[in-house]
Parts: sequence; structure tokens; C-alpha cells
Amino acid sequence: MKIAIHHTPGTFSNRWIEHCEQHGINYGIVNCHDNHIVDQLKDYDALMWHYYHDNYKDSLLAKQLLYALEQADKVVFPNFYTNWHFDDKVGQKYLLELFEAPLVPSYVFYDKAEAKRWAKDTSYPKVFKTRRGAASANVRLVKNNRECMRLIDRAFGKGFGQFDPSQAFADRVRRFWETKNLLELVKGLARFVSPPAYARKAGRDRDYVYFQDYIPNNDFDIRLIVIGDRAYGMKRMVRSGDFRASGSGHFVYDDIEADVLRVGFDVTKRLKLQCAAYDFIYHDGRPLIIEVSFGFGIKGSSKCTGYWDSELKWHSGEFNPQGWMVDAVLEEVIRSKETRTIVE
Ligand SMILES: Nc1ncnc2c1ncn2[C@@H]1O[C@H](COP(=O)(O)OP(=O)(O)O)[C@@H](O)[C@H]1O
Ligand SMILES: [Mg+2]
Repeated sequence: MKIAIHHTPGTFSNRWIEHCEQHGINYGIVNCHDNHIVDQLKDYDALMWHYYHDNYKDSLLAKQLLYALEQADKVVFPNFYTNWHFDDKVGQKYLLELFEAPLVPSYVFYDKAEAKRWAKDTSYPKVFKTRRGAASANVRLVKNNRECMRLIDRAFGKGFGQFDPSQAFADRVRRFWETKNLLELVKGLARFVSPPAYARKAGRDRDYVYFQDYIPNNDFDIRLIVIGDRAYGMKRMVRSGDFRASGSGHFVYDDIEADVLRVGFDVTKRLKLQCAAYDFIYHDGRPLIIEVSFGFGIKGSSKCTGYWDSELKWHSGEFNPQGWMVDAVLEEVIRSKETRTIVE
């Protein structure tokens, strides 16, 4: 049994490799961008690839390659169920509504007049978002009908880029006061003239508009990561004077309520997700999902002091969530080999 890993330093693959080395798991490094990738993968039972939404090249081919392999009975991480709605909040709206998961009420329009009719009658504030993006880029509070109409005009006009230099600069100024690292500010200024490559290449979001109800009075959102029967997480504090937590860089680890864990395990199982990082927010004492993603930063788990199992029992001590992913892939390979033997 042999696992192929596409290695991008700084992503899950660092710790996938570490886990394979530590446990004597047979693995090899492959390059998914290579024209001969299908041929390269012939000797492998599975492919694991932590691709990133802000790596433009990855997003050109990751879904296509992974789905093609899955159709040919290879085990892949992330698989189709886990992957198709990645970095697509609109796709997640449909999916979570279908499964009656507790999603923050969300609205999408593909017609300008219809969006405007809705905007006239709805209550405010609302939250505007583009379907793609992370770290709160392109997530805005819409205070009233006038602001909403302006956003709708823009959505059906020149649209929205993937990067907002003013928002990114404000984050850098905040970090500067904490780190006193002047380079942060200089880089932030440079971004006004030269946006990151992914933002220049990925094109604009336009011809649809997406909103959510604004859920007030939250000092934090909750990032819960569920992988199989294990979960861990953290609260992410909102930026000062702002309602947005994602990208703030301020965390409180391990402090997760049981109802969040219950929803996380339940939705992950019903949607058949290999791995899910949820953003939750509380409304009237009830946790609601803001969004879900298979990918997340690799540093957080080392700051957590333990994890929960699906019986909500706490397990103290260090853990390697990327190792859980490798083990789950190995189990899937074994299961799929057994199924094929029975069929033959
Ligand atoms: N509907 C909402 N009501 C209140 N706060 C929200 C809502 N949606 C998002 N937020 C806040 O904004 C942050 C960014 O939103 P999110 O949809 O997760 O975008 P991103 O993809 O940039 O992480 C969240 O971490 C949360 O703190
Ligand atoms: Mg988020």
C-alpha cells in the first residue's frame, strides 16, 4: 500500500510526511502539476493534496485531477464530498440547506432586479460576502438599504476583486502595534500597487450577490475542526471595533461548547466529509454555521491541549490532525480493496 503526497511546504503535507516517516507508512512525493501525473500515480493507492484557494495554479487543476482519480477508484484526499464546495460559500448554502444543517440564513441572487426587490423589503444589518475568499476579505457589514443597493449595483457591474488592500492594510497596522515590525507596513503599502498574484489572476466576482443575516453580539466565532471521530477547536476573537474574527490572529484554544461539537460531528457524518473546519457563531444560544472548509492553517493544533472524540470525551495531550487524515486514507484504501475483492 503506497500513498502519493503532493508536497507544498507550509501546508498539511509537512505533517503528512512527518506522520508517514514516524509510522513507517509507504509514501512518495509527486507533483500534481506534472503533465505525466496520471502515469506517476499508477503505482499508488491514494493521493493526498492540500491545495490552497490562494494558489491560483493549484485551483486551476486540483478539483479536476482529484475527481478524475476518484472516478477511477483511487482514494483521494480531499474527496468529492469534501472538496466540491471548497472556497464556495454559495455551494455551501445549497448543501447545508438541503441537509437542514443550522446555517446562518443566507440569500443569493443572480438577477439584479430581484436582488433589489429583496433589499427593499429585508431587515438590516445584513452581511455581504463574495462566494470565495478567506481572512474576512470581502466580508462587509451592510447597515441599511442604501448601502445594500450600492453593493448590488457593483455586484452586477464591475464586481469585486479577490483582495481588498485597505482591509489588508488595516490588519497589518494592527499587527504592527503588536510586533513593531515595520516591514509589515511597508509590504501592506506595496499591496496597493501590486496585489497578490492570486488576486490579480483569479478574476472578479460579479453577476451574483450573496448576503447573510447579521448575527449580532458576538465577540468571537468558533473554529471547529472535525476529522472522522475526533475534533478540536478554538475561539477566534473579533478585531477591535469590528464584527469579523477570521484573520484577526487572536485565539482562545480548546474552549468549545458541547452543542458546537454535537453539530460539528453530526453534519460531518451526514455530509460524508473527510475533514471539515467550521466557522460557528452563536445566535440566541444556538450555534449556527457560517461556512465550512476542508483546508485550514496548520499551526493551531499545536496550541490546543487536546481533542474530543465523537462521544464528546476529552483526550489531553499533543496530537497530529494531519496524521488522522493519513490514517483515514489508509483505512479507505483497505476498505476499497476489500470491496473490489468481493465484487471480483
Ligand atoms: N452572518 C454573520 N453575522 C455575524 N458575523 C459574521 C457573519 N458572517 C461572518 N461573520 C464574521 O466575519 C468573519 C469572516 O466571515 P466568513 O464568512 O467566515 O469569511 P472568510 O471566508 O473570510 O473567513 C467570521 O469569522 C465572523 O466573525
Ligand atoms: Mg471563515
